[in-house]
Amino acid sequence: MGVEAAIPEADVLLVNDDIPSYSERMARAGDHPELVSFAGGGEGCVDSRLLTMPNPEVLSKSIRATAQVFEDPKSKALLARIELVAPSEANVLIIGDTGTGKELIARHVHALSARRNGPFVAVNCGAFSETLVESELFGHEKGAFTGAFSSKAGWFEAANEGTLFLDEIGDLPLSIQVKLLRVLQEREVVRLGARRPVPINVRLIAATNVRLEEAVKAGHFREDLFYRLRVVHLELHPLRERPGDILPLARHFVNQYRRRLGYGEVTIRADTEQKLCQHDWPGNIRELENVIHHGLLIAKNAVLRPEDLYLSTLKLDRDVEPVVEAAAEQAVDQLEKALLALFEECHEDLFDKIEEVVMRTAYQYCHCNQVQAARLLGVSRNVIRARLIKIGAISALK
Ligand SMILES: Nc1ncnc2c1ncn2[C@@H]1O[C@H](COP(=O)(O)OP(=O)(O)O)[C@@H](O)[C@H]1O
Ligand SMILES: [Mg+2]
Repeated sequence: MGVEAAIPEADVLLVNDDIPSYSERMARAGDHPELVSFAGGGEGCVDSRLLTMPNPEVLSKSIRATAQVFEDPKSKALLARIELVAPSEANVLIIGDTGTGKELIARHVHALSARRNGPFVAVNCGAFSETLVESELFGHEKGAFTGAFSSKAGWFEAANEGTLFLDEIGDLPLSIQVKLLRVLQEREVVRLGARRPVPINVRLIAATNVRLEEAVKAGHFREDLFYRLRVVHLELHPLRERPGDILPLARHFVNQYRRRLGYGEVTIRADTEQKLCQHDWPGNIRELENVIHHGLLIAKNAVLRPEDLYLSTLKLDRDVEPVVEAAAEQAVDQLEKALLALFEECHEDLFDKIEEVVMRTAYQYCHCNQVQAARLLGVSRNVIRARLIKIGAISALK
């Protein structure tokens, strides 16, 4: 597929690309290098889904931002830290709520690094099912699974010599987290169904909302991977905590969208500015962008009035939410994840071990009463007794 066929401002590109090299793709991309697909290493690469946003810097002719807004002291400090971190080869974890600018920051890190001429591949981990995410990340060989009609490079290979941005890393299943850790340690990937590893040279930038630590505590995210990724991290504050950005961002979006809509200059009234500053912005910069876009559509006489702003009334209790979320997690779900982790560790006699844990825990829960433990588990007393004897929890004489 040629880039010219893509929608110029698409956030999602569906790509079926058979152009072999990155430079060739760039050459073909012409005016839209930001739309170059990094779907795979050429041969046999089919239908890779990439979630990506055009790079503002290379889109000077379009409505996308050329300048990023970093006005609040907190944002200025962040920018200084980005400039410090970007040239290093270290993997980076970007932490921030939805809409705070994580992807934008990731692109900025890439642009300020020695890899800037290599690919930037952005992927949302939450957008793929568990079975799909593995072959998408690491690629697969022909016949690796039903439906694998051709071999295909994964995102890691596609991002070779460049940066791989994994958004919503907390959504990666535990089994994939283990493999990701291995790839980071060994700097090579093994495609599904392949024997030989492929060396890769990729810088990983992962992004997560602030609740990844909760996920670690709840056993949904591997602690070792978390600490490995967190070595270099960039934290994005919610918009309400960097009020100095609100008006500059609002002006920035007004300019961006008025051009897009073919309007001339637009004035933001003082009382409109006041309303913008007083809002809580639960949806952060993305919400502000949408509010401005919508406001311009209904504004009259090139003036943005307070009544043109449709602000959300959603107020989240952010301190309580993670606890509620964690509590709401189904125990069975957690059990499944724990099992997956055990499977990954390849224990011997795994079934016996799991059965032992089940029996012993039930027995202790029932204060060493075999009848009650059997009832709790829905098995006969003989079953539990035999098992407890085998593991030495009770003697055969008891
Ligand atoms: N500092 C900034 N200056 C200008 N625009 C920004 C800035 N940060 C974020 N944006 C814009 O806000 C929107 C949301 O940003 P994004 O990076 O997608 O957030 P996240 O990945 O955290 O959900 C995008 O359209 C992005 O261009
Ligand atoms: Mg994002």
